[in-house]
Amino acid sequence: ALGAAGLGGLTGCTGIGALSNDSDVPTATPRSPPSGPADTAATVRPAPAQAASGLSPDTWIYNEGFPGPQLRVPEGDVLEVELANGLPRETTVHWHGVPVANPMDGVPGVTQQPAGPGESFTYRFRAEPAGTYFFHSHVGLQLDRGLLAPLIVEESDPHVEYDREYTVVLDDYLDGAPQPLYEGTDSGGRGPGMGGGGPGMGGMMGDRRPPYAALLANGRPPNDPQRLDVREGQRVRVRFINASSATYFRVRLGGHPMTVTHADGRPVDPVAVDSFRFGAGERYDVVVDATNPGTWELLATALNGRESPARALLSYDGGTSAPVSPSATGRELSYGDLVARTPIDGLDGSPDRTFNLTLSAGQSGWLIDGQAYPDADPLQIKEGEHVRVTMRNRSPVVHPMHLHGHFFQVGNAVKDTVVVPGHMGTVTFDFLADNPGNWLFHCHNLYHLESGMARLIQYI
Ligand code: C2O
Ligand code: CU
Repeated sequence: ALGAAGLGGLTGCTGIGALSNDSDVPTATPRSPPSGPADTAATVRPAPAQAASGLSPDTWIYNEGFPGPQLRVPEGDVLEVELANGLPRETTVHWHGVPVANPMDGVPGVTQQPAGPGESFTYRFRAEPAGTYFFHSHVGLQLDRGLLAPLIVEESDPHVEYDREYTVVLDDYLDGAPQPLYEGTDSGGRGPGMGGGGPGMGGMMGDRRPPYAALLANGRPPNDPQRLDVREGQRVRVRFINASSATYFRVRLGGHPMTVTHADGRPVDPVAVDSFRFGAGERYDVVVDATNPGTWELLATALNGRESPARALLSYDGGTSAPVSPSATGRELSYGDLVARTPIDGLDGSPDRTFNLTLSAGQSGWLIDGQAYPDADPLQIKEGEHVRVTMRNRSPVVHPMHLHGHFFQVGNAVKDTVVVPGHMGTVTFDFLADNPGNWLFHCHNLYHLESGMARLIQYI
């Protein structure tokens, strides 16, 4: 049940990034959203789950489904989405990965005032570039209540041929509201480590994960897996979205290699693997050649939890033979395998601006370079700059770091979310400052974000 402390925590967190402290800083003018008539229109209605859905009433969902309805739009369309808020709290929608104009980015207190109960807000942006994205609430811990759904921008010129496709949304389902225990700084002093010991002293090496009721694939629990039907000889595209709030998944498929074709929606040179890991906010598209008839398990195991793996079944010709599990070993994707088909232009040579940031645990929250958001200095950049960000992880847990409004180049890959490994793992990415505004850069582990693991990237 949702206690008063929980509500307090959620409310307290909505003021994320109020810019009042920095109102004296002149900031660059953001791009305007596209004008003219919309090519595609949709309505997103967040509301508490109805009893009949079988979901806990503390679950909040989009348009009566979990996950919410898949929005599909051709590349280049002007998409207009009305958010009609049926929740008892204020909310926003963030278009994770899409480089929208800043006022459309859905960050409460930074790019818009959130829509209150019964209110609406209209988002408008050009759906480009093509790719696998998702959308979710950016208020407090609402994503972990269920406010998430896939967004597919269809390419006009697919570089991979395939016969059919599926989207697989992976999530860590909490049977009820996010608990204040995990809410960080607004939870009466109990930060990620609880008990006043600080994150480093927590029972799970400082990474308190909620006790997730189940890991879900497309909303289905492990004992009721969805069947992904194929026929022998077909090529199937599967779009994987890690929409969890705190789970680092390893994905494996029985009987077939998976050929990775896209990372965070961006096309890469195809690479065949037996498994991949991904953190909250990351996406991979793969193709699978259906050349091995039978029924095969698709498993997504939590690398940082004890829950049963999320499951789906790859099933030939509607057959119902006993599913065969993937083998435990095999070739696993690494970032070094990813070579973007379309690297980011303008990043040759040395950077115009460099940030060296330490990721660490503080007494009551997670920090970027010793500071907790929102009382943290913005990272200031100028339009046109080549910006380099290096993150060094002084904590034992992984941090999936996500940049709003831009893709970045990490090695030879182009992504918008990258996992920084624990125990002094270091990741460097470069991006071109081509989208003026105020953008959040944060850990996509929602509990880390809520306890302060975020910075504002501010164009001055
Ligand atoms: Cu899915 Cu601020 O992000
Ligand atoms: Cu983190």
